[in-house]
Parts: sequence; structure tokens; C-alpha cells
Amino acid sequence: MAPSINSSKCVLVTGATSGIGRALALAIAALPSHPKVIGVGRRKDRLAGLKEAGIDAQEFDISADRAVTKSFVEGMIQKYPEIDTLVLSAGVQREIHFKKRVDLDAIATEMHINYFSILTMISYFMPHLLKIAASGQPCIVAPVTSGLAYIPAPWIANYSASKAALHSLCSSLRVQLEDTNISVIEISPPLVESELHDAEGTTETLSKLWMPLDEYTKETMKGLQKGDNVVCSGMAKIAYEKFEQPKEEMISELAKHAATHSK
Ligand SMILES: NC(=O)c1ccc[n+]([C@@H]2O[C@H](COP(=O)([O-])OP(=O)(O)OC[C@H]3O[C@@H](n4cnc5c(N)ncnc54)[C@H](OP(=O)(O)O)[C@@H]3O)[C@@H](O)[C@H]2O)c1
Repeated sequence: MAPSINSSKCVLVTGATSGIGRALALAIAALPSHPKVIGVGRRKDRLAGLKEAGIDAQEFDISADRAVTKSFVEGMIQKYPEIDTLVLSAGVQREIHFKKRVDLDAIATEMHINYFSILTMISYFMPHLLKIAASGQPCIVAPVTSGLAYIPAPWIANYSASKAALHSLCSSLRVQLEDTNISVIEISPPLVESELHDAEGTTETLSKLWMPLDEYTKETMKGLQKGDNVVCSGMAKIAYEKFEQPKEEMISELAKHAATHSK
């Protein structure tokens, strides 16, 4: 069991300018424990809106290179030395059709934003989180994956692969950190009302199928407050429980064997 989000004192949320990230940032800020929430995104008007809602807003392009990300993380730690929780929701989604022209630059950017930038940010925050955790304050790292991490959608093949990679990273990171006070909570949404699909023009079709954002946020906050290791709902929950949950025990067992043999 992970610690409840109720014990978080300072939460940094990426992708906070719209959709799931924004809704979670607002819901976390409204918790009775009143944690400080820092919302990260690019769009200035949306960041201004967050400020009006009482959330500290920080402009940052998550597709930045390693050096820029390192300096952003260092700046955040300096400004908010009490950061103990990361909710990593920024993401993009692009269609890919191999029988047509494949835009490899767009594909590389999508993988970078959905996977490498998250791994990079976690790595740069880790020494800080280890220190905070050692002082007795529980820490949470909560990347946002997708139900498509478990069952890929072929027309968004690279997106699905990026989320499968992130899901795999969450499982490994959880085991690596199990002797610390840092928990890894994978937030895995089903199809949810948001702007994610606007770039591909599929919003109208998908809006007939998606889970309303309010309903999704309430359900996810329940999981975060309970301290579930994987917070998923709808189709994502069905797929996770059927295909992925059985693996989690095996991953722990494998890690125990590896630790025994390396002694
Ligand atoms: N909605 C769904 O159906 C669904 C399902 C499963 C998983 N997810 C995942 O949930 C997460 C949130 O998606 P959403 O549905 O809420 O979509 P959304 O409304 O489009 O939000 C995406 C967020 O990511 C931020 N972002 C994108 N590129 C960025 C960049 N280069 N630098 C900084 N921020 C960037 C955007 O902020 P700016 O544009 O202001 O930078 C925005 O706040 C994503 O990881 C997505 O893959 C969504």
C-alpha cells in the first residue's frame, strides 16, 4: 500500500493546464490537508487561470533537453524545498499509419514527452525525494500511464508503446524503492473527457465514449486517498486486473531472487 495523498504537503503536477492534470491539481489543492500545489504547463493563459484558483503556476516545456530539465528541477527544489509528491500527467497523443508517411520527428517527440522526459524528471528529483523520505515524510511519484499501456490501440501505436514503457518503469521503480519511504503510484486512466484528442480531430467521435472528467477525477482521488499502488478505472481497470496485476507479484519475486544471488 502507498501512503495516501492526504499525507502530501507539497505536490508538483505536470500537465496541469488542462484535462486530467488540471482536474487532479484542483482536487488535490482542495483536500482538507491543504497541500501546496504547483501546476506545470506551457500555455500562459491556462497558467494564469491556475493562479486564480490558488495554485502556484510554473511555465515549463517538458520536451526540453536534459540540461534544461535539470535546471528546472533544481529551481523547483530551491523554491519549494518541501516538494514530496510528483503527479506526472503531461502527455501527447499522435496517430501513426505505417502504410502512409511516418513522421519520425513527431514520433520521437511523442516518446520523449510521454516517457523519457518523465524518467528524466524522476531521476533529477530522486536525490531530493530520498532526502525528504529519510526525514520521515512519505513521498509519492505518480506517473500517468493509460489503459492502452496494457492493450495497445494500433492507430496510436507509438503512444501505446510509450505508455507501456512508462507502466513497465513504474513497476520496476516501485520495487527499487520499496525499502524507502517513496511510493510509486501508477495513475492509469481509461478514455476520459479532455483535449488530448483535439490534435488528431477525433474528439467528436471519442466524446460519445469517454468517461466524464468529473466522474474520473472523483474515482481517481478515492484511489489516491486510499493509497492504491495502481489507480485505474473503467476499461483500464479491467485490462490491468486481467493482464498486468498477476505480473506484479512475479516482478517482486524476481527482484528478491536477484538480490539473494547478488549477495
Ligand atoms: N484523456 C484520455 O482519454 C487519457 C486516457 C489515458 C491516459 N491519458 C493520459 O493522461 C495524461 C493527461 O492527458 P489529458 O487527457 O488530460 O490531455 P490534455 O487535456 O491534452 O492535457 C495534456 C497536458 O499535457 C501538457 N503538455 C503537453 N505537451 C507538453 C509539453 N511539451 N510541455 C509541458 N506540458 C505539456 C499540456 O499542457 P500545455 O499544452 O499547456 O503545455 C496539458 O496540460 C496524459 O499523459 C495522457 O496520455 C489520457
